[in-house]
Amino acid sequence: MMKLDDKINNLVDILLNCSNVTVLTGAGISAESGINTFRDPDGYWSKFNPQELASKDGFISNPEFVWSWYQYRLKVLHSSEPNSGHKSLVEFEKHIKQFNLVTQNVDGLHQKAGSKDVIELHGSIVRNKCIECNLPYHNSVFDGSQLLSKCYLCNGLIRPDVVWFGEFLPEEEINRAEVYSTECELFFSIGTSSEVYPAANLPSIAKNCGAFIVEINPNFTSLSSLADVRFEYPSGEILPKILEKYEMRIT
Ligand code: OAD
Repeated sequence: MMKLDDKINNLVDILLNCSNVTVLTGAGISAESGINTFRDPDGYWSKFNPQELASKDGFISNPEFVWSWYQYRLKVLHSSEPNSGHKSLVEFEKHIKQFNLVTQNVDGLHQKAGSKDVIELHGSIVRNKCIECNLPYHNSVFDGSQLLSKCYLCNGLIRPDVVWFGEFLPEEEINRAEVYSTECELFFSIGTSSEVYPAANLPSIAKNCGAFIVEINPNFTSLSSLADVRFEYPSGEILPKILEKYEMRIT
């Protein structure tokens, strides 16, 4: 088996020749910030039913329960900070001419770390909207005490502005993500189980268009067999190592 240093050096060789890189992140990149993933053994979906907590029907049948889960997640988020994985991506963005960051996460930690243009495929936990007319309600004017209040325009229930199972992804975001997957020379899949579509399709689009596929994930996933190289490490550990070697070579 190739030594880690050699593997990183080989990747850096490729990265140095790339001017267009697309990154897809999932819950795993925020794990080292103390945010739970979904499908790991201790992840949310081992304890809760996604149909109850992450679907429109689930929300309509028990909005208090769903809101209490989102409020809990927001509370965890407020005491969380971006980790060295998020921060390394901020540095890559500065060096690479066209750097496209696509995330399935709703936690905003990429933006908090300083990433400039983050494509949020699954919405954001810090935004809310009316379930009927989609009117936005931001957290600054909408705190926990008002959770079951209704839209002042149409009287619809206010819900988190995230994408639930059975719902379409925001059109502009998924379109941009697909274009960036088509155009990139190198595609990173970081901290995602690659189980949820259409996000899980992005690496295949990139591969079919000739991109080199890198997977960063301590565990084997549905994508692993398609990846050109895998780093079986936590992203907060391996991304700074890749960045360090990359920055040594560009200066
Ligand atoms: P998952 O929970 O499905 O997968 C998280 C992945 O991160 C797993 O493959 C882990 O092995 C990996 N992982 C754990 N710790 C890591 C670390 N420190 N560094 C790198 N990888 C690590 O999360 P997602 O793939 O993001 O959607 O899930 C996709 C969507 O399913 C979510 O956006 C959410 C969920 O249901 C909705 O709620 C609609």
